[in-house]
Amino acid sequence: MSISVEEELLEKFDALSKKRGFPTRSEAIKHLMSSALVEQEWENGEIVAGVITIVYDHHKVSILRKIVDAQHRYGKIVICSQHAHLDHDNCMENIIVQGKVECVRRLHKLLSSIKGIKHTVLSMSTTGRSLDGAAKISEPRM
Ligand code: NI
Repeated sequence: MSISVEEELLEKFDALSKKRGFPTRSEAIKHLMSSALVEQEWENGEIVAGVITIVYDHHKVSILRKIVDAQHRYGKIVICSQHAHLDHDNCMENIIVQGKVECVRRLHKLLSSIKGIKHTVLSMSTTGRSLDGAAKISEPRM
């Protein structure tokens, strides 16, 4: 593969790649390409994988109950969850999901609406299958 870009842009890109720790320019470009393809998966409403993170105060007992209830409701897309006791007051719940984009977004919306949580974020990743070239995206175990 060979591409043409302006010298100034290439210099800036190489500097950024170095700063971000990519060993080679090729690795940096591959990273950008897969990021764009994963972004497209989410835009196309395909089967995706990701993590929903929630930070909350565990003294507010109703919050954990609501988090668990939401996961049961979306049991088809929740693969597993992990609970971490961050300190005396704060807990983090990481929920690994795989399923249709709209279901993942709906679950995230439901979790975000729980009153009293401190922070939530959806890490939008991929099942990996669409980046394999030959692999077709198919419904996982549902
Ligand atoms: Ni905890």
